[in-house]
Amino acid sequence: MSDAAPSAPPSQAPRKLFLISWGCQMNDYDSAKMADVLAASHGYARTDKPEEADLLLLNTCSVREKAQEKVFSELGRWREWKQAVPGRVIGVGGCVASQEGEALAARAPLVDMVFGPQTLHRLPQMLDATRASHKPTVDVSFPEIEKFDSLPEPVASGPTAFVSIMEGCSKFCTFCVVPYTRGAEVSRPLDDVLLECAQLVEQGVKEITLLGQNVNAYRGKMGGTSELCDLALLIDYLAPLPGLERIRYTTSHPAEFTDALIDAFAEQPKLASYLHLPVQSGSDRILGMMKRGYTRAQFLAKMRRVREARPDISLSSDFIVGFPTESDDDFMRTMDLIAEARFDAAFSFVYSPRPGTPAANLRDTVAAGIKDQRLLILQNRIRQFDDEFRRALVGTTQRVLVERPSRRGEGRMAGRTSTNRMVNFEGSPSLVGQMVDVVITEAATNSLRGRLAGAAVTA
Ligand code: SAM
Ligand code: SF4
Ligand code: F3S
Repeated sequence: MSDAAPSAPPSQAPRKLFLISWGCQMNDYDSAKMADVLAASHGYARTDKPEEADLLLLNTCSVREKAQEKVFSELGRWREWKQAVPGRVIGVGGCVASQEGEALAARAPLVDMVFGPQTLHRLPQMLDATRASHKPTVDVSFPEIEKFDSLPEPVASGPTAFVSIMEGCSKFCTFCVVPYTRGAEVSRPLDDVLLECAQLVEQGVKEITLLGQNVNAYRGKMGGTSELCDLALLIDYLAPLPGLERIRYTTSHPAEFTDALIDAFAEQPKLASYLHLPVQSGSDRILGMMKRGYTRAQFLAKMRRVREARPDISLSSDFIVGFPTESDDDFMRTMDLIAEARFDAAFSFVYSPRPGTPAANLRDTVAAGIKDQRLLILQNRIRQFDDEFRRALVGTTQRVLVERPSRRGEGRMAGRTSTNRMVNFEGSPSLVGQMVDVVITEAATNSLRGRLAGAAVTA
């Protein structure tokens, strides 16, 4: 956030949009679409200076408690921007907006628009309505797949892109707000997904990440038939697209991680060597209380088969520690599972009770200090596996998609391996967007260093 004094935005066009996005990659995708839809309808250009914007949007996340409190403290900071310029509009979208609806506008009267993840395409109309009436507009409904039909053509912003293939979640894990904030699982038709991917690849995109809360619950209608396409079949349709080099997907759910998806790692070379499969806990008792729909043994069997299909794969997961009643023994089972699966990346969290979820009614039996200790132990273990994974790459040649100049200094470029590891190496900016072979020379703390294969070795 800028510290400059609030001032009037320039009176002439283009109008300026200041947008902050929190939460998951689905929210990042939605934020980009908000900017696209407002650019197409009202000529908005994005700015990173709130003082010159006449529209300020906050795309929110409510997956954990602190994320929600953050919204109201951020809005507190926005009050001066709102008061400084008559007609400056403030909108709040995303999962907090979806959950709070009218209550959000009531609690924060400076907010002019409240919209949900499924109604962001209606922003232009909401903006006109609120400007005309000088009253807040609230629309947090779930109008099925209408959003995607109303969005402008995608605009690539580099060699990688996200494509949302489904919305919502119907799993109702006992700890999670997402099914309440994003509605039930709804898949986009196959042809729409393929068209968006083709439009992006035409603009130079080389790597596409297929997005959804449970991307492997994808069941897209196939044009002119009553058949439904699953994620494995979608990958088969997408892979032959000329110019497309890599496919990723996130997030998948272990219960619907099918044999066909495991086979895809053996059969589909464009599928990246990376899988994020959130397990949450290694204790069957806790998995049952979370209503995850799989056992530890079932999960580990799938992990073994994935490794057989793609031995060099990077495996990543999500963990929650301190779920109500989690004992030392339950936690040790999680640690054993991490060792057996050898996760080299993870997102891990202390359990946070979310209002309206079944687990919020359980007594929180785990002391805060114990939760923090468990999180630290778990994160250190994952870091060890990550270090081992990156060190094992030293001396190998990796295919790297060059994304941008490196932040590590001039003359260096940054790109990602198929296993989702960032590599910095000497090279020219003209390499951006190209797949190059890089010999890995060093495993740094959070990234890798290397040299272009064939380039002279420097001392
Ligand atoms: N759909 C994915 C799955 O279940 O496989 C996860 C999506 S969720 C938005 C991302 C992660 O947030 C979850 O995997 C979980 O680890 C974490 N999370 C969700 N609710 C939480 C809560 N109440 N407390 C702590 N972490 C939570
Ligand atoms: Fe939340 Fe469970 Fe759905 Fe994942 S599968 S989004 S954790 S309810
Ligand atoms: Fe957060 Fe909503 Fe994503 S709660 S994690 S922004 S689905």
